[in-house]
Amino acid sequence: MPAFRAPRGTRDLLPDDRATFDRLQATGTGLASRYGYRPIETPIFEQAAVFERGIGSVTDVVEKELFRIAPRSEEAESWALRPEPTAGIVRAYIQHGMQTWPQPVKLTTTGPMFRYDRPQAGRYRQFWQFDVEAIGDPGPAVDAEIVELGFRFYAEVGVAGVEVLLNSIGDPACRPAYIEELVAYYRARADVLPPTERDRLERNALRLLDSKDPAMTELNAGAPRITDRLCAACAEHFAAVQAHLSLLGVPFRIEPGLVRGLDYYTRTAFEYYVAGREGQQQALGGGGRYDGLVELLGGRPTPGIGFGLGLDRVALVLAEQGSAAVAVDGPLAVVVGADPEDTATRLKVATDLRAARLRVRADLGRRKLGRQLEAAGKDGAHFAVILGDELAQGQVQVRDLLAGTQRVVGIDDLARALARAEANHHHG
Ligand code: HAM
Repeated sequence: MPAFRAPRGTRDLLPDDRATFDRLQATGTGLASRYGYRPIETPIFEQAAVFERGIGSVTDVVEKELFRIAPRSEEAESWALRPEPTAGIVRAYIQHGMQTWPQPVKLTTTGPMFRYDRPQAGRYRQFWQFDVEAIGDPGPAVDAEIVELGFRFYAEVGVAGVEVLLNSIGDPACRPAYIEELVAYYRARADVLPPTERDRLERNALRLLDSKDPAMTELNAGAPRITDRLCAACAEHFAAVQAHLSLLGVPFRIEPGLVRGLDYYTRTAFEYYVAGREGQQQALGGGGRYDGLVELLGGRPTPGIGFGLGLDRVALVLAEQGSAAVAVDGPLAVVVGADPEDTATRLKVATDLRAARLRVRADLGRRKLGRQLEAAGKDGAHFAVILGDELAQGQVQVRDLLAGTQRVVGIDDLARALARAEANHHHG
């Protein structure tokens, strides 16, 4: 056992993992840009109140999972690592007066999030999200645009069998009456409620519906459903979102039990699952509308909607589905030499080639030429640049490791010759 390990619930992304994440991030950012979303970066920590007020203090994310930063004695601020980016982005929207920009303001970000969750496969304490937010558009068309964007992301990165689950959770006009009904339902069954849920019942009954406690599964299945109790405006909005999605050809399933785990949601709520994995509570991603959030954090009433897609879970599913790992290109050339001790010349030649923007490795081990050439082959290099006696005449041998041919090239012409060979190889 090594003396030090990565903290529980965190993972090192080794180069192969990092390459997968790079590809997911690049796909997400590229897709978001195609849809008119511009990148934004907010701090990884915020005043804890941004999350307490935004996400809601009676939620798992804030009550149990918030990574609070121990305040330094001289500072009154209470900070926390971000468990999600939406609250911070809305804080930035208000702080920078984005309500005066053309609406909606469409933003995207990708980065690490932190939740002090019980670690298990697909559930980490540091995980990555691809997030988009459209602030300032009441919908319903933008709701469908966002759901479709997420759906397309999974298709483009190659996840098979993604299902969209859709619901409406109402608004301040219709939700209070529904919550009363919900409270009555659970009160009547208080004797079978787990203690935390009984405690939450009076403070935030909606959260019982997304409880992770297995004891709640059956109870929740019989609970009254918001979908049957929407006010006319919410029902009309929900119907329009569905019509737009159908027009776009996005398949979806209405899931009346879907309420999401954060308090800021109103109306549209959605999640993406790989079909057959719903039972494990492993949503690949999710989002929804948050028409009250900007006002809640101190701005003017402004509607908004967005999603967060978990990149760790996408990487896991891609591996499970046997989707090909990202192919990593070897170096274009490896500089090797007949004199094992002359590492300086090998390094100098490689440095000049790198200055000419070529991808080149220098063999800096003091080993025989045969071994150096073997290693170049294993690297997947296209060429070996061999330094030998000809160097005195300003020449080197260039061996094409793929074709098995070899020729003499003037050292002054080396960068150009390699670049030309690479171009021919790629376009030929
Ligand atoms: P969320 O459902 O809490 O929503 O998280 C979104 C996604 O992040 C989840 O579906 C999951 O894929 C991933 N995720 C969450 N927790 C973990 C974890 N512990 N380990 C690995 N992956 C995890 C939000 O965060 C909202 N901000 C989404 C949103 C944006 N709503 C509106 N705009």
